[in-house]
Formats: sequence, C-alpha cells, structure tokens
Amino acid sequence: MSSPSTVHVQLGDRGYDIAIGPGSLKHLHPTLTSMHQSGARNAFVVVDSGVPTRFLEAIERTCEAIGLKVSTATITPTESIKTIETYQDLLTQIASTGHSRVDPVIALGGGIVGDLAGFVAASYRRGVPIIQCPTTLLSMVDASVGGKTGFNLQISNADGSPKLLKNLVGAFWQPDLVITDIDVLDSLEARYRRSGLAECIKHGCIAHGFNHPELMDWMIANLDQIIAFEPQAISELVSRNVALKASVVAADEREDTSMQGGRMLLNFGHTFGHAIETIAHLSPNKDDPSLAPLHHGEAVALGMVAACRAAESAHNLSPTVGDELVSLLDRVALPSRVPGLPSNDDLIERMGHDKKATAGSVRVIYPIQRGKCEVFADADPSHLAAGFDAIRC
Ligand code: GLY
Repeated sequence: MSSPSTVHVQLGDRGYDIAIGPGSLKHLHPTLTSMHQSGARNAFVVVDSGVPTRFLEAIERTCEAIGLKVSTATITPTESIKTIETYQDLLTQIASTGHSRVDPVIALGGGIVGDLAGFVAASYRRGVPIIQCPTTLLSMVDASVGGKTGFNLQISNADGSPKLLKNLVGAFWQPDLVITDIDVLDSLEARYRRSGLAECIKHGCIAHGFNHPELMDWMIANLDQIIAFEPQAISELVSRNVALKASVVAADEREDTSMQGGRMLLNFGHTFGHAIETIAHLSPNKDDPSLAPLHHGEAVALGMVAACRAAESAHNLSPTVGDELVSLLDRVALPSRVPGLPSNDDLIERMGHDKKATAGSVRVIYPIQRGKCEVFADADPSHLAAGFDAIRC
C-alpha cells in the first residue's frame, strides 16, 4: 500500500473520501473550491488549542484564497467540556457568522473536537457540510470515520452524586471529506500515540470478520517501526486501519442493534473500558498514580484484556488470544492490569450504565477466535467478574 492514499467510504450518496498521508491537507482546496462554486461563502473552523498553529493557518489561507470568510472557534478538549454548554456556545458562534446551509464546518482536532463540531454540523440549520481533519492517531483511525457526533450528558445518581453518560446525545452525520494529514502527528505526545495504537489493536481483533484478515499480522510484523513512529509505517498503519473502519461503516452505517456484528463489534473492549474510564483515581502505571485518570485508549486496552479473559470463562476461548493481546499491549507500553479497581459488583453496575447496554442486561463483545468477535447479549455477571479480576493488580 503506497502513501499518500485515499480510502473511500462506500455509503452511496453519503459516501466520501478519506485522504491519508503527509501533506494531505492540500486536498482541502478542490473540495472547498467546489463548495464555493455551489454557493459557499463562509467556513467555520473548530480547532483544538493544542494543534500547532501552522495547520490552522494553512486552512485559513486555503479558504481565503478561494474566497471563503473564515471564523474560528477554539476548544481545549477534555471530556468535561464535551457538554451541552460547549455545543450551545459553538452554535451561538456559528449563527453569529451568518453561516448558511451550504457553508462548511471544518473540524481540526481529536475526537472531542470532531464529535462536537460534527454535531454542530448535523444540527445547525438541520445540517450543513463538515470536513473532518483529525489530529490524533485515535481520531484518525476511529472517530473521524463513520459520522458519529455528539456530546456527554451528566445526570444524578439516586444518592445525588453525578453520573457522566458518555456520548449520550448525538446524531449520525457523515462528513463530506476526511483529511488525515500524518504530519500533524509529529507534535502528538507519546501517551496519545499509544492511546491511538489501542484502537488499531482493537481493529486487528475484529478484522477477520470484515475481510481484512491480514491486519493483525501486518501490525505485529511492523511493530518496531510503528512504535518508533516512522512516518512510512504510520501512514500505512493509518491507511490499513481506516480501510478496516470504512468496511465496518459501509456494512452497518448506523450500528444496527439487531445485527449480529457490524459496527457494534467496534465496541470490543469498550463496555469493560467505559466501566473503568470514568474512575478518576485509576492510573495506567502502577508506580505513578499521578498519571490518573486513564486515557480512552488505556481503558480500551484494559477492557480488551478483560473481555478476552471473560470469554475464556464464558465459552472456553483459547487463552492464546488474550496472551497474544497482552504481549502486544506490553510491547507498545499500554496497560493490561490496573491497581485500585473497585468491587466487581460496582464495576458491573457501571457496565450497565453504558449506553450500549440494553435494558436490564449487559451486552458485551467477546472474541470467539483470533481476529474475530461476536456480540453476546445478557452476559453472565460471573464471567464479567472473571474479566475484571484478570486486570486487577
Ligand atoms: N467508535 C466506534 C464507531 O465509530 O462505531
């Protein structure tokens, strides 16, 4: 596979290209030119404050050269700002620019920026175009592909304590274009790089079911170059993972819950992971509690190990599947155990609060063999507990 490359998401008239590689931001020009020819006069850019300014400046220059007036909203992304208030603030800003139905939103940032900007695009004037420009490995291989948008909602438990419901509000809104410029990863901290690798490993664990059986073996064979973040290896890693994600989305655009598989399989590791991700004192390194809380990819890494071990208990999955996963996570310095987990009852209760749980039951994704997972409704709590016990230290 050469780089730069383009992956097309096959969704008929909602289909779109994902331009991948160093310098791929240049692909903005033809798309914005065609939008301008169709009447666009404004562009609303939602940018992550941590992204080097040269990328925003490049977008601004491109827009201005074409004749689009640019307005920018800057976000410092944390889960705690992924709220209705931030969404409302963005809506107020875009409305005050006179943004029309044909004017594009451009998201330049990681998953939080992409989700919020995406939901603004999905809902403002009942929908305007959006171009996603992901800037983290995690958002490149996962969040920017497939049109999931939204924000978190905080409600209260019966005892009055706050409960965060992640991504509870949102819409499917496919982008017009995704630009995945690998150059932007140069500034990404090592911990965020590792978080993105967790989602790549997750893809490898489901890839057989989507006709990408070679994905896991390719990642293992190229792991040294991937860990060293060599540009050629990272471009190919992103291309291969985006191709997998595009296949999943094309097969099941809206995560059909009646489907045995499809997009739900992307939640491998996530139902266990979400149960621990919001526990503020958990650290990915047992010797350094100051690293708490877990990043999303770290929680997913732990969640995948828990799911493998639970599957060993549920249907005698061969331990070699979990063992290979743990050794891969060790090599990329992602956690496979975590100190300070609360009781299994507490954790299982938290799993039930995952929005992917159906009423009264916990639905999980378990591996059934290397590279292949399935959805299991109504998971037995004793198997879930075995999974959590396997990641305690
Ligand atoms: N991140 C899971 C999905 O896009 O469906």
